[in-house]
Amino acid sequence: MATKSENKKPQNPIGIFDSGIGGLTVASAITRKLPNEKLIYFGDTAHLPYGDKSPDSIKYYAIRISQFLLQRKCKIIVIACNTASSQAYETVKDFVGDEALVVNVIDPVVEEVTSDKKLKRVGVIGTKGTIRSDVYAKKIKAARKNMEAPSLATPLLASMIEEGFFNNKISRTIINSYLSRPKLSKIDSLILACTHYPLIKPEIEEYYNGKVNIIDSAGVVAEHVRELLKKEDLLTKEKGPKHHFYVSDYTDSFEKSTKYFFRNKIHLEEVSIWK
Ligand code: DGL
Repeated sequence: MATKSENKKPQNPIGIFDSGIGGLTVASAITRKLPNEKLIYFGDTAHLPYGDKSPDSIKYYAIRISQFLLQRKCKIIVIACNTASSQAYETVKDFVGDEALVVNVIDPVVEEVTSDKKLKRVGVIGTKGTIRSDVYAKKIKAARKNMEAPSLATPLLASMIEEGFFNNKISRTIINSYLSRPKLSKIDSLILACTHYPLIKPEIEEYYNGKVNIIDSAGVVAEHVRELLKKEDLLTKEKGPKHHFYVSDYTDSFEKSTKYFFRNKIHLEEVSIWK
């Protein structure tokens, strides 16, 4: 395995992983914020969705994927998946040690909402796994005791988006049915705690008619990655990055859907890391 000095070098890539292609929303935000950085993306399409998996399975997948990204010399590993961030962040951090930096998608968002003193009741929507872990509410309350963080599992949304149902009558009906639940009443902001939800942000904003502050983690996390790499003196000075987008199980349908999540057409490469 690579040593600390081999990985933590400015010219080395940023590693990003997710259960599938949804994490491309985070990858896309990072490329817009850091256009010179090279990305190595890994989508574990062979095991998705992570939202219904046990914490032990997710930890096992996350370690193996982190090992793959370390072997590719990544200087930082971004856990783009909310479910994996909520259940495997500490495990990945312990495994990676000093070899690379590790970032999850939860802490930067928690810091953002808890530092805004106007916010008092922050809703959270995500997969069953993310919500079951209660990690957002725990971290929010640890930072600001009297802040409320009602959390609701919205499991239909990720598959709905993956099947191309957004910005239409069906998606609006499902979104309205979740957001009108009493649990989310009187919120002043809403955390979109899932890789896929930036694609339905306009519909969610429309539902709340500008009265609720909608927090999409991709942009917040990309800014956090930029600040961290700058602080550690790890921003590249080279130009012309060549990204790689790996998946553990390739299908044409995944490749076609990437344009919704990454905003540009990209090519997926299948790599076998499970044998
Ligand atoms: N990437 C997952 C997340 O952000 C959503 C899809 C899945 O359940 O695997 O939680």
